[in-house]
Amino acid sequence: IFANRKNSPGIDLADCNQQSHLDQVLNRLPKHDFFQPLDQWLNEQNISANNLLDANQQQIQQVCAQYAKRLAKESDYAKLFVTAEQAQLPWRNHLAKRVEVIQKLAEQLILQQHNLLFLLIYEAGKNRQDALNEWREALDFCYYYSEQIKHFYPRELEHTAGENNTLYYQAKGTFVCISPWNFPLAIFLGQIVAALITGNTVIAKPAHNTQLIGHFCQILLEQAGLPHGVLQLVTGSSKALAEKLLNYQPNYHDKGCYLAGVCFTGSNHSAKTIQQQLHSHPHTVKLIAETGGINIMLADASALLEQVIRDVIESAFASAGQRCSATRVLVVHQSIYSEVKNKLIQAMAELTVDEPQLQTTDVTALIDQSAKDSVEQYLNSDFISARIIYQSKIASRFAQQTANHNFVPPTLIEIEQISQIQQEVFAPVLHICAYQNHHMVLKQLQNIGYGLTMAVHTRNQHLWQQIAKDVQVGNVYINRNQVGAVVGCQAFGGMNLSGTGPKAGGPNYLAAFLNEKLVCENT
Ligand code: ALA
Repeated sequence: IFANRKNSPGIDLADCNQQSHLDQVLNRLPKHDFFQPLDQWLNEQNISANNLLDANQQQIQQVCAQYAKRLAKESDYAKLFVTAEQAQLPWRNHLAKRVEVIQKLAEQLILQQHNLLFLLIYEAGKNRQDALNEWREALDFCYYYSEQIKHFYPRELEHTAGENNTLYYQAKGTFVCISPWNFPLAIFLGQIVAALITGNTVIAKPAHNTQLIGHFCQILLEQAGLPHGVLQLVTGSSKALAEKLLNYQPNYHDKGCYLAGVCFTGSNHSAKTIQQQLHSHPHTVKLIAETGGINIMLADASALLEQVIRDVIESAFASAGQRCSATRVLVVHQSIYSEVKNKLIQAMAELTVDEPQLQTTDVTALIDQSAKDSVEQYLNSDFISARIIYQSKIASRFAQQTANHNFVPPTLIEIEQISQIQQEVFAPVLHICAYQNHHMVLKQLQNIGYGLTMAVHTRNQHLWQQIAKDVQVGNVYINRNQVGAVVGCQAFGGMNLSGTGPKAGGPNYLAAFLNEKLVCENT
């Protein structure tokens, strides 16, 4: 019944035929009943559903938001938990069914690839490569977790005199999964699939600005055979929604319902708020939190410069820097600092900053106006504005109308030391500084307190081995970029301010959704 794990193949975007095919897909509204209401709203906005590539993506995004608003309904929290409780037992006790549903979900993701790419590009604002990578990651989570569950089969432990001892793994109960807009498909499904495959029921809250993807995935899970009540969505535009959901205390005495766990990806601040809210519940509620990072890439004097430039461009500016793993500070040995800085500026000048649906776009706009406002506030602060040394150009048709779009150009800021950076800036904003002594760099990093990713560029094996051993971060990458962890290969997640672990897409993740039960039989 278990899946044989594989990672999904992608589409080669260097192939012109594949790009032309995508042009056709992205130029018209998908042919699925789910998308029909969009047609009318697009018309009202004077956007032709048959000529989308020419339209402004932000306008289509607004139409998506309008549709999502209509789909949102007021949640009856008591009913949510009772429904989840009622659906639990048959689901928990039927491993074969769970594996079958997740494998069928993977088939649905393949069948619906174009529709999902459409949503990732137009609703979530991802460029073609990012959308494709995310679709692949979602598929990989299905493959990986439906294979990993085999490790949680009942296990015979050592016998004691006249006694058989068996260790069982059992679902914890009802999980609330709260996912972010920056990975509205992969993290949304990654959390849900892990909770479901281990036999839990799920109440999921997709991010408010990428709800259509959440609704569409729910349809796909239903088509994959997910029984009624096992997954319920809570949607709406309010940020307070998650708080209401977590503050609601299910009625344990009357109906036997309680909240067993929360799986959260988002900011460190929200994770702490959630943790406080969970303290008021009568049970101890498991919290799995994956939060942000102030991630550095360190290049020592022996680093290959072209490789550093390629990897920092990818890690700092891809996905418009809207990844928790992204490089926030490039720390360069003083002996090669000027050369790296100049080469980096030349490379930044080549970036195409434009709309996500277009073939040539490297860097897209930010997710929404408030994201842009908070980044601009950071860039306009006295300390930072005086240190901006380069900004890439935004596509000329947007450059004149700053108020009408959410672009923040890739920006390079020169600082003296990494301890000057105290906040995660979720945007294509990179800081650069020179260093003399790597011990000082690691110390400052530790003082900041985040611990998500770090990249080291060096040809000195002793150096990287020492850094990899000492540094307090979850993912260390040597002589490569520091984004895009591959499910099942590069288990992903941080420590300290960056999260609780266990790592998503790694061998210990599913254990966090399970209770252990030991049965000792006196023979
Ligand atoms: N898992 C994502 C990455 O590795 C966030 O970039």
